Amino acid sequence: MKKLLFAAVTGYFALAGLLVFGLHFHYGVFTKRLLQPIHFPHATHINKVGLACTKCHITVTNSPAASAPPLAVCMECHTKVKTESPEIKILTEHWTKQEPIEWSKIHQLPWHVRFTHKRHIAAGVDCTVCHGEVNTMTQVHQVRSLEMGWCVSCHRENNAPTDCWTCHK
Ligand code: HEC
Ligand code: HEC
Ligand code: HEC
Ligand code: HEC
Ligand code: HEC
Repeated sequence: MKKLLFAAVTGYFALAGLLVFGLHFHYGVFTKRLLQPIHFPHATHINKVGLACTKCHITVTNSPAASAPPLAVCMECHTKVKTESPEIKILTEHWTKQEPIEWSKIHQLPWHVRFTHKRHIAAGVDCTVCHGEVNTMTQVHQVRSLEMGWCVSCHRENNAPTDCWTCHK
């Protein structure tokens, strides 16, 4: 009887373990699929179409945030290009209703950190230093830790300020 109970209990935990593992695996697959409302390929637009980053991230050189592209920029081309693609149909629907696309944020510093694109671009730091080779990515992903040590060591090497209030509010 004891043996049976033992087998039942271990069996139960083994199953539960498998289930949790399975869910995690599945969740990974799902989040990739559901990450963005439209599967926007950076590689295509940069390498094939030849667009500059600033064509879409229009505020990156003159303000703290790089910002998401205005729909009007996409529609300069997509009223004619690939209009039968399911992804472009979603885009067109948003455009017709004048509803912005809710892109999920990939890079996110904690609320207490102050960061500005403008100053880094003006100092000649290339996008690739912090974002990697976006021109080869289908879906952009984070390639640097964005941890304090990473920020501070580059500031030190470049005589940029390292006092706490430079980066903290
Ligand atoms: C010194 C590092 C650094 C450089 C250089 C840099 N970025 Fe960023 N970028 C970041 C960090 C850090 C964030 C997250 C900011 C936050 O959460 O407040 C970010 C966020 C973004 C975002 C999300 C929207 C936003 O503004 O939060 C976009 C788009 C972006 N960067 C594009 C670019 C482009 C394009 C370039 C080059 C023209 C560039 N970045 C150069 C570090 C950098
Ligand atoms: C300068 C023109 C141009 C602009 C601006 C542009 N695209 Fe594109 N896009 C293209 C071209 C050309 C292709 C097709 C490339 C190929 O596969 O040959 C494409 C492909 C795509 C695809 C893949 C479609 C598929 O099913 O293969 C998506 C999604 C897309 N664009 C979304 C966008 C979004 C969103 C924006 C605005 C943020 C945008 N595009 C801005 C020219 C542009
Ligand atoms: C045709 C428009 C277009 C061009 C050109 C473009 N991007 Fe983007 N970018 C987008 C869109 C749309 C998103 C949001 C969807 C996504 O995550 O892919 C985005 C997202 C990003 C993000 C992630 C933002 C976040 O949420 O943290 C980074 C980083 C970025 N772009 C960097 C670049 C860099 C660097 C270049 C030039 C090498 C570039 N982009 C060129 C349209 C563009
Ligand atoms: C690759 C090097 C590099 C990295 C990585 C980097 N920075 Fe910088 N940062 C600089 C340089 C260079 C300046 C320009 C200083 C100037 O304008 O004289 C600067 C300036 C700044 C400024 C403006 C300073 C001022 O005087 O107001 C802030 C804020 C800032 N960085 C925050 C950050 C944060 C937060 C991170 C990490 C998420 C970061 N930086 C990562 C090189 C870097
Ligand atoms: C060049 C930018 C920069 C400077 C200078 C800087 N920090 Fe930070 N700090 C960050 C960033 C980015 C984060 C968030 C990422 C992380 O937790 O590593 C952070 C996180 C923190 C955290 C939270 C850590 C946690 O585990 O949540 C504390 C506390 C902190 N910083 C204190 C300081 C103090 C004290 C100073 C001055 C001696 C300082 N920072 C200077 C960029 C900076």
